[in-house]
Amino acid sequence: MVASACLENEIPLCSLNDIEEGHSIEMVIQDRPLFAVRKADAIYAYWNICPHRGSPLNWSPNQFLSIDQQTIQCAFHGALFEIDSGLCVLGPCSGDHLQAIDLHQSGQDFTISAGQELPPAPVSLRAQALADLEDKE
Ligand code: FES
Repeated sequence: MVASACLENEIPLCSLNDIEEGHSIEMVIQDRPLFAVRKADAIYAYWNICPHRGSPLNWSPNQFLSIDQQTIQCAFHGALFEIDSGLCVLGPCSGDHLQAIDLHQSGQDFTISAGQELPPAPVSLRAQALADLEDKE
């Protein structure tokens, strides 16, 4: 069994004004992709992993929301998730949740809290294919 990794230190995420209302940003920490969404005067962050197939939710950089900006939408099969809870309310993984990231707020600034478990690092299909080719040579 592989031990899960934990985030040892708090990591700055963003300031409230870094994200416009109804928009989102993405980033990578310790090889794990994540995104953050602003709704009202709050920031919500999730690991960029769809509970349906385990793939990233977005096809375009920083695009995670539905057209009406009221829900997070997976680009692959259209699952819709509540912004503030991560609950899938429509789609093939209905009833499942996105993996929320614990944040700490200090005034307008949000940091990713230390001590929380990191999801497994995503598998790079390209790197895997290249390694398979090298093995066959
Ligand atoms: S991979 Fe997200 S809905 Fe299928």
